[in-house]
Amino acid sequence: VKDFPRTIEWVGGRDGFVRLIDQTQLPGALHYRDCHEVEEVWEAIRTLRVRGAPAIGIAAAMGVVLGVRTAGGDRAALDRKLEEVISYLATSRPTAVNLFWALGRMRNCFERSALVGEPLQDCFLHEALAIQEEDQQMCRAIGEAGAPLIPDGGGVLTHCNAGALATGGIGTALAVLYVAAEQGRRFLVFADETRPLLQGARLTTWELQQAGLDVTVLCDGTAAQVMKEGRVQLVLVGADRIAANGDTANKIGTYGVAVLARAHDIPFYVAAPSSTFDLRLSTGDQIPIEQRDAREVTHGFGRQTAPVGVAVYNPAFDVTPHHFITGIITERGVVRPVNEGAIRTRLATAFSQS
Ligand code: MRU
Repeated sequence: VKDFPRTIEWVGGRDGFVRLIDQTQLPGALHYRDCHEVEEVWEAIRTLRVRGAPAIGIAAAMGVVLGVRTAGGDRAALDRKLEEVISYLATSRPTAVNLFWALGRMRNCFERSALVGEPLQDCFLHEALAIQEEDQQMCRAIGEAGAPLIPDGGGVLTHCNAGALATGGIGTALAVLYVAAEQGRRFLVFADETRPLLQGARLTTWELQQAGLDVTVLCDGTAAQVMKEGRVQLVLVGADRIAANGDTANKIGTYGVAVLARAHDIPFYVAAPSSTFDLRLSTGDQIPIEQRDAREVTHGFGRQTAPVGVAVYNPAFDVTPHHFITGIITERGVVRPVNEGAIRTRLATAFSQS
């Protein structure tokens, strides 16, 4: 598996900027977008130029660095500015908890800098880079924890994009595939196209092709048929937020795939770092679900595909109940069976970073 271009990076030192792959341009073109202002980062998150739960957490953290660096005045003024920037970035997208988790870490810099005597602005940059670095290590560890689950000679179905493009490393669900491939396992990947924005067709197939993995794209409605044909031995998806009981929000359509997997007696695994768990929420009913523009459905990629004035329901995510999930692959090992006790125990175990 070869190295990918970085989905997002900080270029330069304290006066640097954010460079990210503009994922709205893929697979047609590999374009980078430079963000010098926090507003540009907000826009990139909102419009899905950068997307995927861990990647938007990293982007938001770097956005804080941009947003507070021109703030003058005393510590109190800087604290006010920090809160303003954090509140602003928190409005970019509601569902992936990694965004709020990362903003929380940036807020903690305020106290940490006083404790360790580091200038605040340096502390912000170090924290954003640490979030990215840790994500990279968590991705690799998720891949290693999950790789033994990949059936040699079998088929794996995935939905949306939970790969390198969605993280600071080699992905979550796709990390499992990359590590399994490195270990010499041979398998076929089926990528749901993932209506309406086609993260599966545009992004998952692109990055799996780059890595030399054998991938077939499916219309979303085809998943049931390939399962019935006996070509899928495992379903593997990412997550945007996991409640304490294991209910999992992920890209719209994931729940349907989980129900199909159950109907065909196929194991259904979620792969996610600990930053995707929200243990404050007891069940998935409490997860806020982003509603997106009707035009994504009626005018997908510029062509009108539904009549003017038709009612549209376009939630970006759904919640898969925990009892449909065989296991959750984390950087600390696999949670199985999926219940609150098993999740809390697994997340309490140490993660030894290499
Ligand atoms: O709307 P998106 O493209 O940000 O949705 C992304 C997903 O649903 C991913 O599966 C999830 O964030 C996991 S990414 C490792």
